[in-house]
Amino acid sequence: MTATHPSIPVVLALALMPIAATAHEIHTCAAGFPDAPVLSGHVHQTDINSGALSFKQITDAGEALFVARFNTCDGQGRPSATGTGDKRVADEPAFIRTSAPESNSCAGCHAQPRAGGAGDIVTSVFVLAQAADPVNFSVAPEFSNERNTLGMNGSGAIEMLSREMTVDLQTQAGALPDGAHTLTTKGINFEITKLGGVVTASRGVDTDLVVKPFHQAGVVISLREFTANAMNHHHGMQAEERFDMNPAKGFDPDFDEDGVARELTVGDITANTLWQAQLGVPGRAMPKSQEERERVQRGEEVFDDVGCTSCHVPKLELQSRFFVEPNPFNPPGTCSDITVCPEYRFDMTKQGEGPLLEKGKKGGAIVRAYTDLKRHNLCDEVTDPDPVRHFCNEHLAQGRPDQDGKPGTEFFLTRKLWDVGNSAPYGHRGDLTTIAEAILAHGGEARSARDLFLASAAQDQIAVVKFLKTLQVVAPDDED
Ligand code: HEC
Ligand code: HEC
Repeated sequence: MTATHPSIPVVLALALMPIAATAHEIHTCAAGFPDAPVLSGHVHQTDINSGALSFKQITDAGEALFVARFNTCDGQGRPSATGTGDKRVADEPAFIRTSAPESNSCAGCHAQPRAGGAGDIVTSVFVLAQAADPVNFSVAPEFSNERNTLGMNGSGAIEMLSREMTVDLQTQAGALPDGAHTLTTKGINFEITKLGGVVTASRGVDTDLVVKPFHQAGVVISLREFTANAMNHHHGMQAEERFDMNPAKGFDPDFDEDGVARELTVGDITANTLWQAQLGVPGRAMPKSQEERERVQRGEEVFDDVGCTSCHVPKLELQSRFFVEPNPFNPPGTCSDITVCPEYRFDMTKQGEGPLLEKGKKGGAIVRAYTDLKRHNLCDEVTDPDPVRHFCNEHLAQGRPDQDGKPGTEFFLTRKLWDVGNSAPYGHRGDLTTIAEAILAHGGEARSARDLFLASAAQDQIAVVKFLKTLQVVAPDDED
């Protein structure tokens, strides 16, 4: 990292001061020991926007933040804060697998096939346990939703798709009279009901019509929001925009009471976000032999014929090629104020790790992510004959409202499949080890597609899996 942070000397001075004896004393960067923060400095947002830092310097700093194994000198740990950023009542162990902190770095989980990617089931997160005072006795679904680690390759394009869709949906809905309507954006339909001028019911998206593409439940708006969440949740590293500068947290410079203030600057969060947004877009790993390539092609046709593409939409088109920070729909506590984090943009078809995003028509781009960014219910009714209910295992709603009399816990975003060939294990919990198992676990809205898949010739079923296996996170452009 090239920039240094003015508050670093202050932080060090604090760390070197004799610390009053507290229950957490052992977790403080102790006086006299040769320990220093893992981060050699912080990123200034002003240096990003003045152009003092190049795109490469910003994203290198972002990567450094993603792979840093934070220590207590950096401010790792949150003795007095929960993973959702509330004040903690009960005493918190330094690390705890369920409620977290449970890991040393983002890359500790997001590591396949390299930093920024997906993760093994051992990296699962017990989502919502972080909201509680430590859940130290159970990983049962009554207390948290176990979720498998996803990869961020291509996520810049995903965020921008959801932003364009949100503007489109909100504009359409705003102009419509009360009643039931179907809105269509990028070819994807969303049913809504308007009453008294406001949207009171919706399918596949919340009634605010903000498409939230992150978390498998579809509850987070932007990479930046997710990053500030994850830094506090997993590592006890507080983003100043979420804590120090946030009226809702009383502008408390040390909300988690670990003796370190301004743990992550606005510029740090921008850099980490931009690094994720510029990661190589997943590609295709095609077999060499002509015969095998034909089978893959056949698989792609069958994938369409049996109806998989009704949700796993092969390509969506972006009107703009640019990734633009910050996201205007960011919630409070995530920078969206352009006086604090001024707009920064890069062309996803020109800049980044590579493979770069594919150019589209008229300044647009093509996103081959195999999703509709919409929530669906893959649960058959318990009373259905031979019900398929593998994906109906969660007990906690995590912001997903009930719909059509069904519990919100049954709704998940159509999973992006562009990295499915090398992001095992599968399913939101990561408890499926093969692609075929994941396909057979589709019930509810996807039951007919699953049954048509099963009814097709064995060779065609195999071809579908062969096709899906070609969708992979491939090597960055500068590697072989
Ligand atoms: C303990 C493992 C773990 C660590 C550490 C971790 N993540 Fe994650 N990450 C996950 C899991 C699991 C998911 C999927 C969550 C879900 O679907 O509910 C995820 C999802 C994400 C997503 C959303 C991806 C999508 O497509 O929905 C982003 C962005 C992300 N993580 C960023 C980070 C950043 C930045 C850090 C470090 C500050 C980090 N993660 C640390 C496990 C981890
Ligand atoms: C009604 C929408 C819908 C249809 C139709 C559909 N899917 Fe899915 N698919 C989903 C959703 C939602 C998930 C996420 C399930 C979960 O983990 O909760 C998913 C997950 C998957 C996964 C797991 C990916 C991973 O990385 O975990 C695979 C593989 C998959 N689908 C393939 C298919 C195939 C093949 C078909 C056609 C036979 C199909 N899907 C039809 C919505 C659909």
